[in-house]
Amino acid sequence: MPRLGLGVWQTPAGEAARIMREAIAAGYSAVDTASAYNNEEGVGEGLAGSDVFLTTKLWNADQGFDSTLRAFEASAGRLKRASVDLYLIHWPAPKKALFVDTWRALVRLRQEGRATSIGVSNFNADHLERIIGETGVTPAVNQIELHPQFQQRALREVHDRLGIRTESWSPLGRGKFLGEPALAAIARKHRKTAAQVVIRWHLDEGLIVIPKTVSPERLRENIDVWDFALDADDRARIAALDSADGRTGPDPLTATF
Ligand SMILES: NC(=O)c1ccc[n+]([C@@H]2O[C@H](COP(=O)([O-])OP(=O)(O)OC[C@H]3O[C@@H](n4cnc5c(N)ncnc54)[C@H](OP(=O)(O)O)[C@@H]3O)[C@@H](O)[C@H]2O)c1
Repeated sequence: MPRLGLGVWQTPAGEAARIMREAIAAGYSAVDTASAYNNEEGVGEGLAGSDVFLTTKLWNADQGFDSTLRAFEASAGRLKRASVDLYLIHWPAPKKALFVDTWRALVRLRQEGRATSIGVSNFNADHLERIIGETGVTPAVNQIELHPQFQQRALREVHDRLGIRTESWSPLGRGKFLGEPALAAIARKHRKTAAQVVIRWHLDEGLIVIPKTVSPERLRENIDVWDFALDADDRARIAALDSADGRTGPDPLTATF
């Protein structure tokens, strides 16, 4: 899958089709949506006829074998596609105790060619071991919160051991730390923006990265990251931004939705 794509959480449904067309024009080749983002119809409309790599996700309320198959049909209908490139379980929702059955449904969807690849999101090491142990099928990716202030080194090592690709959500930390002096200094040095430095960092770390924007200028800015390289000093300064409590989003173990 493409290593750099566009995230569309909080992209308004009515603007999604236009933003998809602008993203294609800017050179994007992957888009990450979800049933819960309520914009699949606009995303599907804007991507119609393109070969953009499309990811969508199963919402927590739809977990369970049969309900997952039904929810996939609903997503595919809204996206106006017979199949998607990647289908993810959005959250493990461990209290429901349904993620193994849900994973079995994703395996079925892959066997039927409705999802070319299948994966998970917000799973921890135990959740991953559990679905692999019960089904023998390893998720292609685990999409997790990951950015310079929350680098997830331990879980990434688990992914490497299990053969799972790591995809970074909120890769810009929702824009909250882009004013960090260290990032500003690195950006000045390379004549780039802090957002571009952070996106380059994800790519250099071997991560799949899906920054979100609704702005045409930032669409172009966030993909213009192939003409510079971070050096060892830059990497060390970014490594130092990591924080155990650097999450911006919910902890998957205690999330109540
Ligand atoms: N699996 C999950 O549970 C999960 C959870 C969260 C997110 N995600 C996925 O990950 C994607 C990205 O995460 P995210 O949307 O939470 O946050 P993000 O990509 O880290 O940051 C997006 C925010 O940063 C701003 N921004 C974008 N480019 C910028 C730039 N060049 N300079 C300054 N600010 C910039 C955006 O504003 P503007 O739009 O106004 O430009 C928006 O407010 C989501 O859209 C979604 O696809 C998945």
